Formats: sequence, structure tokens, C-alpha cells
Amino acid sequence: MALLKPFSDQKSRLAFDLVRKEIKQVEKQISEQVRAFDPEIEAYIDYICNTSGKRIRPALAILAGGALGSINNDNLKIGVIFELIHMATLVHDDVIDEAETRRKIATPNAKWGNGMAVLLGDALFSHSLLLATEFGKIEICAKVGKASREVCQGEVLQTQKRFDISLSVDEYFRIIAMKTGALFAASASISASLSGADEATEANIYAFGLNLGTAFQIYDDCLDLVGSEDTVGKTLRTDLEKGKLTLPLLKLLESASPETKKQLTNDIKAERPLDFESLVGNTAYTAAIQDSLDTASQMLEDGRAKLHGLPDNKYTEGLIEITQYLEGLIRQCHKSC
Ligand code: IPE
Ligand code: IPE
Ligand code: MG
Ligand code: MG
Repeated sequence: MALLKPFSDQKSRLAFDLVRKEIKQVEKQISEQVRAFDPEIEAYIDYICNTSGKRIRPALAILAGGALGSINNDNLKIGVIFELIHMATLVHDDVIDEAETRRKIATPNAKWGNGMAVLLGDALFSHSLLLATEFGKIEICAKVGKASREVCQGEVLQTQKRFDISLSVDEYFRIIAMKTGALFAASASISASLSGADEATEANIYAFGLNLGTAFQIYDDCLDLVGSEDTVGKTLRTDLEKGKLTLPLLKLLESASPETKKQLTNDIKAERPLDFESLVGNTAYTAAIQDSLDTASQMLEDGRAKLHGLPDNKYTEGLIEITQYLEGLIRQCHKSC
């Protein structure tokens, strides 16, 4: 049962056209995986898995596989595994952020409570690790396990550093590379290695994915401040509420007027949710968001440079188009500022 428009029905995603058919297959395989769960919990897993989503991580797996060789079921399976891991992390993330909506429907925590959501996230996580064993290759299991641990550690560090006024921009970058970059990087590079990439190429694709994922998280952190919940389909403004010091906030702390800076610093030190309303219209606040979006664009540019040695074919071109798709999202976000 598809609860929302599946990927294939979304019209405005030209960058993904090349792999539309394969992404549909990934979605079909995800639906089949849902049936691997105990019949009594299948409906819960189905609720989580049969939702819309941009499918960026599967797209990267498929394109990276195609760039290095012909696309086969191994590449699709990597797409399935990383979309499942991604969904597991979202289920957990929504518990932490107390988010009520995701992909335009109620989050598992809103529907069934935190306990159930944590356990369902665990079930999804462990199922992805089990799926990785089907390659029969210990090094694939190790890479999938490492990427999963990286996301979890990124989320732990972020939670540890909530309302931490001493958080540096470098630490922020380290955290988002772990919590978001790792899955982009692993999905693309593991798939490339299964298509025969040598170690150096695999490392370049990993670096490309890391740049993309990091840029994407910066964009998402700006979207949290300026996006509309109706359009985005998920609960927003939780970062300020939860004391997550994201790049726009860190930049604002550097550039704000002494008065705004004092207010922000006092709120952060007292672990008070930051007052979003008081920031809207503040010139330094808008500039900090714009500046962060520019940083994200620059990271996409740096990411593209990592693809230089790849074979010149339509899938390599597709990887570049994904960066352009992300550029488009960043442009839209600029306009909302
Ligand atoms: C949301 O990821 C979480 C972040 C890493 C910012 P996506 O924006 O890729 O989520 P879906 O899969 O499209 O819902
Ligand atoms: C991304 O962080 C979550 C993970 C990488 C697990 P966010 O908390 O910003 O993601 P959204 O905004 O809830 O999708
Ligand atoms: Mg969140
Ligand atoms: Mg966010």
C-alpha cells in the first residue's frame, strides 16, 4: 500500500530521470523487504517504508554503479540498504527532535509513542545490516556497519553538544559529515566498488558523497529556519527549539549586533529554546542563512571536482546532475530568506 505519491509519479525531478526505472525497482524491493518482518509488526514497518522521500541515497548508489560499469542488482540492493538505514535514522531522529510530521504524514513517535518508535527504528536498522550479509562479502558488511555507526555517533555528538556555546564551526562540520555525509558517501562508494571501482576511485566517490551529504545538511539546517512545513512536509524549527547550533546560528553568533548576540548567548547558556520570532527580519540573521547556503554551494562545487577521473558517460553526468538538483534546492531556499 503506497501512502503517498511514489517517487516515479513526481514530475519535477529531472535530475533523477536517468535512473527513474531503477529507483522504482528499489522502491519495489523495499516493499518486498517489509514482508520479511514478523506479520504482527509488518504494518508498522510498511507505514514507515511506503512513504515518499527524495531517494537521494539510492540515486547515488545507482548512478555511481552505472558510472563504473553496468547497473545490476548489487547496485539496487545498496540503494535499498541505504534507504532503509536512512529511514531508521529518521525514525530515531524524530523521537529526539519530538517531530510530529515527516514525509507529510505523522511520525512513528507521534502515532505510537517514543518506545515503539525506538524499537521500530532498531528493527529497520538491524534488517539493513542483515541484508548487507547477502553479498557474502565481509568487507561490504564492514563498510555498511561503519557507515551506520558513523550516523549514530554523529547524532550522539549533536545531542551532547546541544546548547553548547563553545561549539566551533569545525565541530559542526565534523558532526554533519558523520550524521549525513556518511550515508551519502557509503551508498555511492560501496556501489561503485561493487561495479569494479579501484581503491582510488572508490575513495574519490566517497569524498564526493561526503561533500554532497555535508552540503545537503547545511541546506537542511537553513530550511529548518526558513522553510514552510506544508511544502517541505516535515516538522520544522526544531533546531532552534532543541538548542542545535547549526551553521546559520554559528555564523549569526559571529556577526550579530552586540544586543542580539547577548540575547542569543543568554538563551543558549540558560538552555532556553531560541526565540525564532525575534530573529525574523534581522539583517544579520538573513545574511547568516544566505552565507551558509553559499558555503553549501561551494561544497557541491568541491564535490564535483572529485569526479574528474571517472569514465565519461551518462551516469557520471547523472552524478553531476544530482549536485545541480541540490543547487536548485539551495536556490529555492535563498529565495525564501
Ligand atoms: C532528511 O533527509 C534528513 C537529513 C539528512 C537532512 P532527506 O531530506 O533526504 O529525507 P527524505 O528521504 O527525502 O524524506
Ligand atoms: C538529520 O538531521 C538527521 C539524520 C541525519 C539522522 P535533522 O534533524 O536536521 O533532519 P530532519 O530535519 O529532522 O529531517
Ligand atoms: Mg530532525
Ligand atoms: Mg533538519
